[in-house]
Amino acid sequence: MTSGLYPGHLLVLLCLLHGSEETCPSMCLCVSDTVSCSSSGLTKLPQSLPSFSVTLDLSHNYISWLGPGSFKKMPRLENLRMSNNQLVSLDHGVFSNASSLRHLDLSSNKLQVVEQHYFEGLWRLEELLLFNNKIAHVEAGTLSGLSSLKKVYFSLNQITHFPFFSIQDHSHPFLSMLDLSSNRLSRMRWEDVKALPRLVQQGLYLHNNSLICDCSMYSVFWHWDLRGYDSLKDFTEEHTCSIYGNTRESILFLQNSRFFRNCTVEKPVSLPVIVLFSNVLVTEGEKVRLDCQTSLSSADLSFTWVSPSKGNITQMSINDTLISLFPNGTLEIQATKVNDSGLYVCTAVDIKQSLNATREVNVTVLLPSADSFNTGYTTLLGCVVTSICIFIYLFLTPCRCSYCKQPKSPATPSATYDPSTLTSVFSLSTRDRHKIQTNKRVAFMEPTLSEEGTEWTPES
Ligand SMILES: *[C@@H]1O[C@H](CO)[C@@H](O)[C@H](O)[C@H]1NC(C)=O
Ligand SMILES: *[C@@H]1O[C@H](CO)[C@@H](O)[C@H](O)[C@H]1NC(C)=O
Ligand SMILES: *[C@@H]1O[C@H](CO)[C@@H](O)[C@H](O)[C@H]1NC(C)=O
Ligand SMILES: *[C@@H]1O[C@H](CO)[C@@H](O)[C@H](O)[C@H]1NC(C)=O
Ligand SMILES: *[C@@H]1O[C@H](CO)[C@@H](O)[C@H](O)[C@H]1NC(C)=O
Ligand SMILES: *[C@@H]1O[C@H](CO)[C@@H](O)[C@H](O)[C@H]1NC(C)=O
Ligand SMILES: *[C@@H]1O[C@H](CO)[C@@H](O)[C@H](O)[C@H]1NC(C)=O
Ligand SMILES: *[C@@H]1O[C@H](CO)[C@@H](O)[C@H](O)[C@H]1NC(C)=O
Ligand SMILES: *[C@@H]1O[C@H](CO)[C@@H](O)[C@H](O)[C@H]1NC(C)=O
Repeated sequence: MTSGLYPGHLLVLLCLLHGSEETCPSMCLCVSDTVSCSSSGLTKLPQSLPSFSVTLDLSHNYISWLGPGSFKKMPRLENLRMSNNQLVSLDHGVFSNASSLRHLDLSSNKLQVVEQHYFEGLWRLEELLLFNNKIAHVEAGTLSGLSSLKKVYFSLNQITHFPFFSIQDHSHPFLSMLDLSSNRLSRMRWEDVKALPRLVQQGLYLHNNSLICDCSMYSVFWHWDLRGYDSLKDFTEEHTCSIYGNTRESILFLQNSRFFRNCTVEKPVSLPVIVLFSNVLVTEGEKVRLDCQTSLSSADLSFTWVSPSKGNITQMSINDTLISLFPNGTLEIQATKVNDSGLYVCTAVDIKQSLNATREVNVTVLLPSADSFNTGYTTLLGCVVTSICIFIYLFLTPCRCSYCKQPKSPATPSATYDPSTLTSVFSLSTRDRHKIQTNKRVAFMEPTLSEEGTEWTPES
């Protein structure tokens, strides 16, 4: 901008350019195709807004109501910023004839329910910001029809149930960020979560909720951990679940897998083959039962176990009283020995339908004197992330991941999202991590700013 030209001049020029009826409301600033009425003390929408606007900023005002067709005279409107207002709900048709909208920011308002009709017709919408409202309920059809969606932010609300089933590959092919962190999700329909498109699962943020620890939850996170998703790596210490629904007894479940040691997870072998996998931990001398439940449900199955110490075990081959194989495939070892440890693989065969399925159990038999290792041992999964931890596990007990926080290279967290500084929380010092945490929401928002924070900065 040349010196001597102040916004008023520019505005006059623009108004001349756009014809006389395109007046900029007195409390707003109109530059190019952007209208900013941010922090202007507005309690309702200005009477006449310039129809050429592509970006309209109404953030930091006191607007509590929007009438039907509020933006219908702005056919080019792509970015609408209404964060930090007083909206409690939206009437029918608020966004009718605003189908050019690509970016809609309604964060930090007072919305309570996201109703099905709110975003009707916004099929070009790519980014929807609803964080920091008072949303307790999201109606099932809310996101349907929003086929261009890429990023949706629902964090810092009070959501207890989310309609995951309404998101599918064909309905939302571009959705790669669904932030539901810091809500009140507890008993989730994990089957629906597992059925989400891979892209959505990868960008699904669920930390800082009120999840209840159970195996179905664990198996979902186990997979995400295996796939190395950032949502887990960046927020390892915010992933908590409560035991037996007791909110006071919550554990950091990514670091402490003790409570899930009897859980069976679906281990991808060579896709699409999936093998059910579980861990069993026993003390030497104890009896152990390994079940061979698989995807096969026929009553007429024959089972074969392959054990590390005894080789093939079938009903016929057993001549050992210390071991038995029940008709349902369950293998029982009467008195386990340390050298019984290892991977047990069961194959169930349905001869009639020529089907078979396998099941794996990783058995660890500990010496009785090693009892004190149990607690430390079972947190191992959380420590797999770093070999340092394993080292510590072997020589110091119990293993606490806090020992692993030796800063490798001092990271310099900044407001901008740099994946390399967030690759592992274990490599950052506590202080550094704190800094990053406070910037996390900023981190998510950063792409937004860089996409549109171009020619002008809103003044407060
Ligand atoms: C709004 O859209 C409807 C059809 O969806 C159309 O009939 C109507 O003319 C539009 N109104 C404006 C002001 O563009
Ligand atoms: C967790 O969520 C609560 C609200 O549910 C919020 O007040 C708190 O700041 C969140 N904590 C973090 C670390 O995000
Ligand atoms: C796991 O199973 C063993 C016996 O198989 C049982 O003693 C133990 O309590 C179970 N652990 C949990 C966390 O359910
Ligand atoms: C396992 O250890 C026992 C003694 O504890 C020994 O008798 C047995 O031969 C060992 N088996 C194998 C396969 O090493
Ligand atoms: C177990 O049985 C399979 C055939 O059913 C055979 O190929 C394999 O060699 C056997 N393994 C042992 C350790 O006996
Ligand atoms: C038990 O079976 C093994 C092979 O599975 C065989 O080598 C051994 O001789 C058998 N023992 C008896 C007492 O039958
Ligand atoms: C298999 O049968 C045994 C003995 O009848 C029983 O104790 C066990 O619970 C059964 N296992 C399953 C998974 O049904
Ligand atoms: C299991 O089925 C696959 C084909 O589905 C076959 O290749 C394999 O040999 C079978 N395994 C057993 C142990 O029957
Ligand atoms: C079984 O568990 C032990 C101890 O956690 C681990 O070292 C080993 O790698 C596991 N084996 C498999 C096949 O997962």
